[in-house]
Amino acid sequence: MAKITSVKPSRKRAKATRAAITAVHGYVPPDVLTNAELAKLVDTSDAWITERTGIKERHILKGEGLGTSHMGAEAVRGLLQKTGTPPKEVDLLICATTTPDFVFPSTANLICDMVGIRNIGSFDVQAACSGFIYAVAIATQFVENGGAKKVVVVGADKMSAILDYSDRATCVLFGDGAGAVMIEPSPNGHGIRDVLIRADGAGMPHLHQKAGGSRLPPSADTVAKRLHFVHQEGAAVYKFAVARMAEISMEVMLRNKLNPEKVDWLVPHQANKRIIEATAERMGLPMDRVMITINKYGNTTAATIPLCLWDYEPRLKEGDRMLFAAFGGGFTWAGAYVTWGYDAP
Ligand code: ACO
Repeated sequence: MAKITSVKPSRKRAKATRAAITAVHGYVPPDVLTNAELAKLVDTSDAWITERTGIKERHILKGEGLGTSHMGAEAVRGLLQKTGTPPKEVDLLICATTTPDFVFPSTANLICDMVGIRNIGSFDVQAACSGFIYAVAIATQFVENGGAKKVVVVGADKMSAILDYSDRATCVLFGDGAGAVMIEPSPNGHGIRDVLIRADGAGMPHLHQKAGGSRLPPSADTVAKRLHFVHQEGAAVYKFAVARMAEISMEVMLRNKLNPEKVDWLVPHQANKRIIEATAERMGLPMDRVMITINKYGNTTAATIPLCLWDYEPRLKEGDRMLFAAFGGGFTWAGAYVTWGYDAP
């Protein structure tokens, strides 16, 4: 029988239930693109990319007919396996992505089909690099309201599909990957304590894809003019990213009466190591409490935060206090305060 995922508020449950991340899994495709290889495609160098971004290599999804859903499905399959969750127990699946397989149907729908999850609600969230935290905000509402018990949130992007590998200013920055978390009622009081999402549409000119949507549908002309790629004015975005990442992190700290000593981990979106360092410095956090994966994955857009959690999972302990912070195209930015639910498995 079809499940009905309801948003009807239940006063009784709303007070009692805290949503928690109870498991995480990730996937990066096997093909690696190093800085040295990029230096053969465009006028760049390993030294420039390392010094200006912290990136050494990134993974690229190759293979005909493979889109973002392939990586999302791999991450979700691993998550279900790891937690012993039969597909029929999932109540809702949300996929944050900027590189959906199709304009429609949603990548979330495709992932569900690929892993055998049926008859539930599933949809995509588009908030660029902040998409994962946006999706976590939505999942949290469903769990806290009692409308869903097991929500899978996926952050997945195949950025290589929208990169111009003749533009050195953008092609060196991004990689492909996916991460997935299970969000369900907290068994021990730890979980998602606060989530903030923000946006300012005036930021569009600085970071967007010019063609391929309804405003400028694909045509021979848009292809010839190379309008289907990431357009980024790096310096303008950098300035906003540094300001907004620090601002949202400080706001989350203030709202939750946290000081730097009380934050065990900053889990930042991985766009540029310098942006991450500037955020940590403004928060007063030493870098050994900051999750870093940009060196090996680059910027995987909606996947960076779950991939960080997956990478660092063996080092995490129940009760670890974490601050998520992200910034991305739109502009969008978001932050969250989470106390980690479990010791490393
Ligand atoms: N190799 C060598 N030189 C390069 C490269 C490269 N790969 N890319 C740019 N340059 C050159 C530029 O052409 C410029 O040369 P010029 O001075 O002769 O004109 C010079 O380096 C400096 O360019 P800047 O753009 O000022 O370089 P900057 O130090 O700002 O670094 C970068 C560029 C890495 C893109 C940085 O601006 C950045 O990280 N921006 C923010 C990215 C971000 O946060 N994006 C948001 C998330 S992404 C999303 O939502 C999809």
